[in-house]
Amino acid sequence: MLSQYYAPTRVTFGEGAEMKVADELAADGAAKVLIHYGGSSAEKSGLLSKVRELLKNKGIAFVELGGVKPNPRLSLVRKAIEIGKKENVDYILAVGGGSVIDSAKAIGYGLSNSGDVWDFYCGKRVPQDTVKVGVILTLSATGSEMSDSSVITNDEDGWLKRGCNSNVCRPAFALLDPCLTYTLPDYQIEVGTVDIMMHTIERWFHSGNGIDITDDLAAALIKNVKEKGLECLKDRNSYEAHASLMWASSLSHNGLMALGNDQRGDWACHQLEHELSGMFDIAHGAGLAIIFPAWSKYVYKTNPERFAKLGRLVFGIKEEGEKGAEKTIEEFIAYFKKLNMPTSLADADIILSDSQMEELLDKATFYGKRTLGAFKILEREDMRAIYELAK
Ligand code: NZQ
Ligand code: ZN
Repeated sequence: MLSQYYAPTRVTFGEGAEMKVADELAADGAAKVLIHYGGSSAEKSGLLSKVRELLKNKGIAFVELGGVKPNPRLSLVRKAIEIGKKENVDYILAVGGGSVIDSAKAIGYGLSNSGDVWDFYCGKRVPQDTVKVGVILTLSATGSEMSDSSVITNDEDGWLKRGCNSNVCRPAFALLDPCLTYTLPDYQIEVGTVDIMMHTIERWFHSGNGIDITDDLAAALIKNVKEKGLECLKDRNSYEAHASLMWASSLSHNGLMALGNDQRGDWACHQLEHELSGMFDIAHGAGLAIIFPAWSKYVYKTNPERFAKLGRLVFGIKEEGEKGAEKTIEEFIAYFKKLNMPTSLADADIILSDSQMEELLDKATFYGKRTLGAFKILEREDMRAIYELAK
């Protein structure tokens, strides 16, 4: 089976990378930029005022819209599209984490395609084009700074959280300054670390043949993230640890970790998690720490050696087959606990009612229209069993 690696984003990495923002925008001929950001962190750190000054000095006009919330909302995307049309915006600059970047990507779609932008997220239409998006990253987690993905929550109708995947939305440039992540609260580093790991783990559990170089890269990335996540928590000024985590965020989700595999990966944990964070507004990484153990326990007998190999390369587990797989799952759970993550719904104070369970299953199956996964194909009743195991 063919696989493709497409990473068009121009990455500038290192302390002070954000100082290149006006040069990058000018190189792309940006005339009017929408600076898009979240709550207060980028203002408080002084990053936004730096950006404003750099653009002014370069003579690049801009308008601003902040207020992106974690699990970014469709209503703000619509507001930004309106502003963008009125102001003739031809470039969007995302200053923040995955939520801000995903919101910027949705705005880019909305500005260059006619019709309802939500169509792209509920699978009705495929985006053909976008207004370019540039990124100053402040949080290592989602990999959205290089990924083909954008995830939006529909706060206008049913709180559906849906992703749109297209090469069209890969950012034109990404400025990665690890020092910008020193101000993150512990919790964001913890959930970010889980998310970075999971983007490679989802690709690890593909449905067939792979190649050793990709397996070795994947294991090295997970092992590194496992150590650097904890190091960042211990030493908030460790440039090396924050830099490793930041680059791992991009590498884990830009497609490199899937090249040569039979197909893109499993992704059931992500889909089951998106329904959880859509319904309960929990952090994506925390939801993954809840779902992955339950999913693993449910599917590992499909191919125990695949789990055991991961455990061998990442944790040094000696056992093979089912024993090795079980130990691997235990090690991941123990690690998530070290990160103070919930590893069950109860840990996150979520008690699923019967009607909430049915709603999750309706949404996860697209109301009976899809299965999930590749390592093991999941039908509705399999998904129920996984949510049950997660309780
Ligand atoms: O809003 P502000 O005040 O900026 O605070 C943010 C926010 O509260 C804060 N923060 C960000 N940078 C900071 C900072 N606080 C202090 N110092 C800094 N340097 O962090 C909080 C969380 O931000 P958010 O952007 O929501 O986090 P994350 O990057 O984890 O993004 C999560 C979203 O991305 C989606 C998730 O589902 C979720 O909606 N994903 C996107 C993907 C993609 N596009 O490729 C892939 C992922 O699998 C994921 O689904
Ligand atoms: Zn993720």
